[in-house]
Amino acid sequence: MKQFPLLLIALASIALGVWFGLQSADEKENPYAHLGGDFTLQSDQGPVSLNDFHGKVVVLYFGYTRCPDVCITALSKVAQAMRTLDENEREQIQPIFVSIDPERDTPKIASEYARYFYPGAIGLSGSPEEIAKVAKRYLVIYEKVPMKDSAMDYSMDHSSIIYIIGQDGKIRSLVHHADTAEALVKYLRETLAGTLPKKPA
Ligand code: NI
Repeated sequence: MKQFPLLLIALASIALGVWFGLQSADEKENPYAHLGGDFTLQSDQGPVSLNDFHGKVVVLYFGYTRCPDVCITALSKVAQAMRTLDENEREQIQPIFVSIDPERDTPKIASEYARYFYPGAIGLSGSPEEIAKVAKRYLVIYEKVPMKDSAMDYSMDHSSIIYIIGQDGKIRSLVHHADTAEALVKYLRETLAGTLPKKPA
């Protein structure tokens, strides 16, 4: 799946901003402070908001259920990391999957897909407008790619980042889907302990 130079540029800009000390005091503490935020979307059990998990760590991933590759890699890795953690740690972490293909992924389909990887995971969808709004705030890039001579009609190209969100609802770390489950476990433990993001020395 094609990667997105635009996202890399955006992430590089965030890193550069930190280096040049251009941010507010809040952003000096957390370079991701201006990214993300609360949202409300639909699961098969009804509406779910990020703020519902205040006090918990959230592992958030955007993808689509018909994805042939990176979504499976990323969500399997999240599940593997969750199984590596102990029960006490697991209880403090909520994995959430958000579909960027709302035309095909109903809340029911998104929910079942998320639970297929990890029974405690939540899968969300919404109207195309709602999804676009959330994606924009998390710098998630996606686009339809028409498929000729295919029953699927189209696939979705999409950026593939696992967001680790702290107990206060703010992003703590961005993990690439190619990072190991061990790395994800390490970041989750550091987030639970409140030591991410690392402060500049
Ligand atoms: Ni995907």
